[in-house]
Amino acid sequence: MIAAFSKKPEMELTQYQIAVVVGSLRKESLNRKLAHAITKLAPKEFSFHDVEISDLPLYNQDDDANPAPSVKRLKLEIAAAQGVIFVTPEYNRSIPGVLKNAIDHASRPYGQSAWIGKPAGLLGASIGAIGTAVAQQELRNVLAYLDMPTLGQPEVFIHAKEGMFDESGEINADSAKFLQTWMNRYVDWVKKHAL
Ligand SMILES: Cc1cc2nc3c(=O)[nH]c(=O)nc-3n(C[C@H](O)[C@H](O)[C@H](O)COP(=O)(O)O)c2cc1C
Repeated sequence: MIAAFSKKPEMELTQYQIAVVVGSLRKESLNRKLAHAITKLAPKEFSFHDVEISDLPLYNQDDDANPAPSVKRLKLEIAAAQGVIFVTPEYNRSIPGVLKNAIDHASRPYGQSAWIGKPAGLLGASIGAIGTAVAQQELRNVLAYLDMPTLGQPEVFIHAKEGMFDESGEINADSAKFLQTWMNRYVDWVKKHAL
C-alpha cells in the first residue's frame, strides 16, 4: 500500500498553487507587502492566491453543520492549494486573533480539516526588535497539531525599518536577496511534500 503513495518522477506536478494567508487586515500592512514581495521571487510553475480572511465570522462550533459562504470558500481555497504560506505580525507575543480564527475555521468539522498535509512556510514582519519570533513559534505549534509539514529553516523574522519597502511596495535589494534563499527552500519543500 505504501507504494501507492510514493511519488514517481513522472507523476510530479508541473504547476503549484500556493494559498497565502496574511495575519493582518490593515490596509498598509507590512506583512501584506512582505507577502507580495515574496511571491515575486518564485519560479514560474508557482502561482499564489491571497486568501481573504476579513469576512469570516467568529468561529462558533454550533455553525459546523451550516458554515457561512466565506467559510466554505476558505476551505475550498485551502483544499485546492498544494501549499500554504502564512505571513503574520505578532500581536501581544502571539498570532493575531483573525489568523487563529481562520485557522480554526478551516480545521473543522472534526476530521475534515483542509490543512492536513499541506506544506507550510511562515514569515513575519514587525516593528518590534525580535520581528515576530514568538508569534511564529506559537504558530508552529498550531501547524504541527494540524499535521502540516512546516519549513524549519531559514527563519524569517523581519524587524521592519524605514526604507524596507519603497512607495510602490517593492522591498529593498538586501531583503530580497535573503528572501530569495527562503523562497528557494520553500519551493523545494513544496515539491517534496505536496500531495
Ligand atoms: C494589538 C497589537 C499588538 C502588538 N503586539 C506586538 C508584539 O507582541 N510584538 C511586536 O513585535 N509587535 C507588536 N505589535 C506591533 C506590530 O508589529 C505592528 O503594528 C506591525 O506593523 C503589525 O503588522 P502589519 O503592519 O502587517 O499590520 C502589536 C500591534 C498591535 C496592533
